[in-house]
Amino acid sequence: MSDHNEGKVAISGIRSFNGELRVPGDKSISHRALLISALSSGVSQILGLSSGKDVQATRAVISRLGAKVNVEGDHITVEGGRRLLKPPDEILDVGNSGTLIRLAAGMVAGLGGRYSFTGDESVNRRPMARIFKPLTEMGAKIEASGSGDTAPFTITSHGLNGIRYEMPIASAQVKSAILFAGLGARGTTTVVEHVPTRRHTEEMLGDAGALIEVEKLEDRSEIRIERGDLHPVDYDIPGDPSQAAFWLVAALITPNSQVTVRNIYLGDLRSDFISVLERMGGDLEIIRKSQNSGDVTARSSNLNATEISPKEIPGIIDEIPILSVAAVCASGTTTISGAAELRVKESDRISVMTEALRSFGAKVDEFPDGMAITRGGQLHSGKVSAHLDHRIAMASSILGAAVEGETEVLGFDSVASSYPNFVSDLLSLMSSNDASSRP
Ligand code: S3P
Repeated sequence: MSDHNEGKVAISGIRSFNGELRVPGDKSISHRALLISALSSGVSQILGLSSGKDVQATRAVISRLGAKVNVEGDHITVEGGRRLLKPPDEILDVGNSGTLIRLAAGMVAGLGGRYSFTGDESVNRRPMARIFKPLTEMGAKIEASGSGDTAPFTITSHGLNGIRYEMPIASAQVKSAILFAGLGARGTTTVVEHVPTRRHTEEMLGDAGALIEVEKLEDRSEIRIERGDLHPVDYDIPGDPSQAAFWLVAALITPNSQVTVRNIYLGDLRSDFISVLERMGGDLEIIRKSQNSGDVTARSSNLNATEISPKEIPGIIDEIPILSVAAVCASGTTTISGAAELRVKESDRISVMTEALRSFGAKVDEFPDGMAITRGGQLHSGKVSAHLDHRIAMASSILGAAVEGETEVLGFDSVASSYPNFVSDLLSLMSSNDASSRP
């Protein structure tokens, strides 16, 4: 058993946040840039890769599979191609990354051979039947631990066949696992998506030359992929909007604050939290530098509660912990519904966030698929356990900076999954008159 409370941070409010910064490269795009580079025949160049441990795990996995990765500062080259890749002797360890285990499982099923995967305690609790089902239908054989639904697991394939798969849940990870597998399958693989989710996989596979097409129909999208080879691409990865969200909310909920986050990814289904915050009365300014990236500035605001509906959830799924912090600082009651998927993230984010927000004095009602959050009386400092969940650790420390007293976040080490420099960025933006944060 690892220690859930490893690493502790104490933060004392009330702070102001001022300045500008860049956040790590987008995590979803970074995982895919590495996996797609590993499959591409030739040398791909990557700039701006996420510095988090999750993406380091992806680098290690593609190296184990046989891709040649070279790192020089911020500049990474990957020499890949199917002829270089083969099943390794060792088990592939994904650490804390649910995205990696699901995408890589699809990718290796398409390559063929026998591969074993494991992860940390959090990953090994997360549901995997969602990828086992379509991959098995395509012809892979899966032996899994526990009830057959969790990692560690071994996946063996000797050639896959394309399928048509109606997505039973909204999940970009599941969609991507099937598309990666489809790249190595006979015939056409079709994913039918009724609720849109982030589109990085289909866009990036298309950029690398995959035979992929997306048909948008009235009530669904059909994404079709054929077996094929990929060519190298030069990637320049913008900052991660999910990390930017922490600083933007920090500025909105604290007095005398103004923060600009430069060059973040602004495509839809990833930056939708910005519209939620604007609807709450947040003072946000967006300056687009390209179609899908730009700078965002947030200034101290008086926020009002909002209703977050089920259809909005896939576009803000990773920002709900920090949006719930914004909700605690808003007047009125914010409701979030249709978000049951939050229960199977790095932690059960509904129950862990409910417990965290209550420790600050907020009134939170917990539902199977969401929460109702009311500021209640006077907020005070909290004591939070991050449960191996980076986003819980970061969201709670931002709330700690907006309230009186000293907040303690246990299990703070988890932030390294996605944002190793979170504390130094926190310190550089905080301009309080008195106390300090002690990592
Ligand atoms: C991700 C998809 C989402 C998200 C995760 C990253 C991706 O998960 O929560 O952090 O990169 O595809 P689901 O697809 O399981 O919703």
